[in-house]
Amino acid sequence: MNDKQVVALEAASYVKNDMIVGLGTGSTANYFIEALAARQQQEKLRVATVASSNISMIKAQSVGLTVLSLSQLSQIDLYVDGADEITADNTLLKGRGYDLVMEKLLAKAARQFIVVADKSKLVSRIGENYAIPIEVIPFAWQAAKRSIEAIGGIGDLRPNAAKDGLSITSYGSLVLDMRFDAGMDGHQLNALLNNIPGVVEHGIFPHLASTVLIADQGKVDIRA
Ligand code: A5P
Repeated sequence: MNDKQVVALEAASYVKNDMIVGLGTGSTANYFIEALAARQQQEKLRVATVASSNISMIKAQSVGLTVLSLSQLSQIDLYVDGADEITADNTLLKGRGYDLVMEKLLAKAARQFIVVADKSKLVSRIGENYAIPIEVIPFAWQAAKRSIEAIGGIGDLRPNAAKDGLSITSYGSLVLDMRFDAGMDGHQLNALLNNIPGVVEHGIFPHLASTVLIADQGKVDIRA
């Protein structure tokens, strides 16, 4: 079993009967979906889910989980998702898999948000390994990009080589992948990006994770 499987299995043990569980997107979240489906089958666990992306919805349905729409719900019990970067204060960078609008909505709607990752995701600052994904409204992407450049961002629209064009999110946004100076703190950047017209959402998730589970060589470290 690899570390992503180990941590996904641990997260599945947090699920109780009659919970509504948000499903993340990515390889670690996929292992969680499988682990949850296994518990449903083996223990007859009663559970319903909400998916953060079309791909997770299809995965969940394929293993027999019930998938509800977030529009039917005001709150969910638990959200389990991976992350691309995690700092010491549990600020996250997410969105390399596109669907960060839904991911942030689920993180906010959840009573408990458990982040599942292996050690490779730990960083000393947001933006250390990856550009910050910023979803922008297609008709305003140039204006949004100019505003982001004015606060020090460097980058461009995310291409989609497989489709010979640009990446488009499930909800029709374009994605700017922007890098910032190492001196720019994730919280400061979060506040600045929240104020730019044309930005639909961005990948910095501060103060949202309630628990972070980090697997390293088969052992899980629990950070609250
Ligand atoms: C999806 O948009 C991201 O936020 C994922 O949570 C992230 O890419 C984690 O993916 P892995 O679990 O595959 O590393």
